[in-house]
Amino acid sequence: MPQINPYLVLWYHNIVMENPEVFVSKRVMRLTVNGRMHEFAASDAALLLDVLRETLALTGTKQGCDGGECGACTVLVDGRPRLACSTLAVQVEGRSVETIEGQARQGRLTPLQQAFHDKLGAQCGYCTPGMVMASEALLRANPDPSADEIKAALAGNLCRCTGYVKIIESVQAAAAAAARGAR
Ligand code: FES
Ligand code: FES
Repeated sequence: MPQINPYLVLWYHNIVMENPEVFVSKRVMRLTVNGRMHEFAASDAALLLDVLRETLALTGTKQGCDGGECGACTVLVDGRPRLACSTLAVQVEGRSVETIEGQARQGRLTPLQQAFHDKLGAQCGYCTPGMVMASEALLRANPDPSADEIKAALAGNLCRCTGYVKIIESVQAAAAAAARGAR
C-alpha cells in the first residue's frame, strides 16, 4: 500500500473539510472492518479515524493528538499497524482493517488484552487500544520479541499514565502465554 506523508494527508483533509462549497462530493465507500463489510457515503477526504468512530460507531480507536504524534489511533491494515488519524478511508478500501473491537471474541479477552489487564499495563486506558493493536502486530510477526524489540514496536505509542515498564511487561507476558500454548 502506498504510504503518503501523514502531514500531506492531514493538509488535504483540512483543505477539503474547510471548503465544503468547493469540495462537496461524497461517494459510496466500502470498508472491511473486523471481518465485516460496511457500505456508507463519505468524502474522499474522510479520515479513517473519523469513519471508524463517527460513521461506524467503533469508538475504541482513540484520538490523542492533532495528528501523527501519539499512536492512540493505531489500527491494523492487512495486519500491519497504521495511524487511523492520518490515513484517508479511501486509502484502505479493499483492505482488511482491524480495530480493538475486533480483538475479543464472544466477550473473551485475547491473551494480549488479558496480559494488559493482569500486568497493569493500562491505567486510564486511553492509549491502550493503540498499544494493544501495535503489540498485536508485533506478536504476529515476532512471537518472542526482546524488550528492545517491544520498545521499538511501541516507539510511536505514547502513554501519559503508566510509564512503559508495565506495558512492556504486558507484551512479554502475552508472548510467554503464547509460548505455553495459550495464545
Ligand atoms: S491520534 Fe493518531 S497519532 Fe495521535
Ligand atoms: S494508560 Fe493512560 S495514557 Fe496510557
